[in-house]
Amino acid sequence: MCSIDLNQISADDWDELNDPRPDVTEFDRVVDAALSRRGFVSGLVAFGSGAAAMGMMPGAARAMETSRFAFEPIGLQTDATVHVPDGYEWQIVARWGDPLYSDVPAFDHATGGAADYTDRVFGENTDGMEMFVVGDRQVLVVNHEYANRKVNLPQATGGTPRDAQDVKKLQKLQGVAVIEIARGESGWQIVQDSSLNRRITHLTPIEIAGPAAGHALMQTQADPEGVLALGTMNNCGSGKTPWGTYLTCEENFNGYFGATDTDAIYPAMVQDGYERYGIGTDGWGYDYHKWDERFDTSVTPNEPHRVGWVVEIDPANPDANPVKRTGLGRFKHENAAVVLASDGRVVIYMGDDERGEFLYRFVSSGTYVPGGSTEGLLDNGTLSVAKFNEDGTGEWRALTPETTGMTSAAEILIFARIAASAVGATTMDRPEWIAVNPHAIEAYCCLTNNKNRGVKPNAGGDDTSVNGPNPRQSNKYGQIVRWRPVNEDHGADGFEWDLYVMAGNPEVYDNAYGGSDNVTAGNMFNSPDGMVFDSAGLLWIQTDGDDSNDGEFAGMGNNQMLAGDPVTGEIARFLTGPKGCEVTGLTWSADRRAMFVGIQHPAAPFPDGEGKLPRSAVIAVTRSDGGLVG
Ligand code: FEO
Ligand code: CA
Ligand code: CA
Repeated sequence: MCSIDLNQISADDWDELNDPRPDVTEFDRVVDAALSRRGFVSGLVAFGSGAAAMGMMPGAARAMETSRFAFEPIGLQTDATVHVPDGYEWQIVARWGDPLYSDVPAFDHATGGAADYTDRVFGENTDGMEMFVVGDRQVLVVNHEYANRKVNLPQATGGTPRDAQDVKKLQKLQGVAVIEIARGESGWQIVQDSSLNRRITHLTPIEIAGPAAGHALMQTQADPEGVLALGTMNNCGSGKTPWGTYLTCEENFNGYFGATDTDAIYPAMVQDGYERYGIGTDGWGYDYHKWDERFDTSVTPNEPHRVGWVVEIDPANPDANPVKRTGLGRFKHENAAVVLASDGRVVIYMGDDERGEFLYRFVSSGTYVPGGSTEGLLDNGTLSVAKFNEDGTGEWRALTPETTGMTSAAEILIFARIAASAVGATTMDRPEWIAVNPHAIEAYCCLTNNKNRGVKPNAGGDDTSVNGPNPRQSNKYGQIVRWRPVNEDHGADGFEWDLYVMAGNPEVYDNAYGGSDNVTAGNMFNSPDGMVFDSAGLLWIQTDGDDSNDGEFAGMGNNQMLAGDPVTGEIARFLTGPKGCEVTGLTWSADRRAMFVGIQHPAAPFPDGEGKLPRSAVIAVTRSDGGLVG
């Protein structure tokens, strides 16, 4: 049946393999309903008629007959470099440690750079990014999500910070980079010393705006008014407003906090929040709390409330403070997909990437008028959360004092997860990036995987039994859900949904874990994560999954980027990353003749060779004939 490595499979999968379920089960029915819903988008017939049938179709029969892709799909790779199709080329644009200014020393592989200038170089762990045109200059804004401590602190045992200087170095490596880039004789490069170059780190002053600004839960001794935080943290995915600002999304912020007094007692609401958001006494090894009391919750208990937001940055104005937009809610933000409602209100779709957490939508109270004032647009509005019904419909449930039983808008936003649980939101398989189709009124969300699906509740105790858009127990491959709002209006409160793809391994499984019909031996992947539409309406899917190429993941190779046709369902592999990396972040040059792709946390020897530190990098992919790439 398969070449599965029995040492690697879970108890659930072992059970499934050895005690196959009846041909048609309730589980199949739910999967079938999710995939074969009629009348949603033409082309849905590309999906199979049932989960049991999906995996039994030979790969050739699954292939689509026509293709809108301008490239020949590539095979899987397991090596230490990047691969693109014939007729395409790639080059490094920026690596961790590359100087943004000419007076900064070249990268030092022995030390990983000194703390005094790590906020004057390109940061680590590139993630979400967007391109902005400022006058005749092209400005790339890139997130630097987290730190690879063992790599970034090569002289510290196990990557554990030795002192406050090591902590400061980590704090300055992460955050956001604003860099002017230009195409020269050696391709796309950073424009050193550009007046637009800027680093925003864990230490940068950030204004707090919106309904939670100034609330008692946002106040600290250093900022008694609760209106000015320091730093934006764990910057994962991105977003772009119609008025030319960048949105950076704070994700796993909890890992930076700990407590030196492990017996500290907190007010009940603070303690409940810590439990729901995963704030403990040890942190995740950054050890900020041992050297910087802002991150020691036993000293500064409200500091965690000041992280977990979406932050707006103006790339054209290096002197402007970034702003935390609390109206968009506090959770582990993946990205922020911005679109306008029919009447011009600003709609932002957002995922909360944790097992069994939720999908959110913000709708502004005011409307966007091109060239008009955008003051308050992201501060005043309604935050809602998605409820998916089994019949293919769904609704956005507003989070208000009336619906949640909570006392104020500020409290609801600071503890958005708790508010969302109160209104019965649908628990999801880790919502990652959301992308809005520029050619149809619909949106897509990567649900990357969820080993806890059907196994245990989320951190709020919500039931996580399989449900419509999350139909597989112990989901290790992930899926992409899409929804189309009623009345073709992203501001409407109802929608219809289906699954665009269920990732899986059709060579290993002949059940729902084999994936939907648009998954074949030739395009297999797991854990869809980054996702962006290009101007032509193709859906680019990036992965952050198991790259062992073994057992249940055999045939998938390294993490990759694929193109998806939203109409036919066809999916084709375009790019493979180096071993160990996640492929994440995608944007284009103004002329659409270069695509910029993020290669996060590759393993050595990428990109500088044997004996050198691995370095996250942004690459440019171009056509050899200079043609359009998106
Ligand atoms: Fe930072 Fe959920 O990825
Ligand atoms: Ca991600
Ligand atoms: Ca991920």
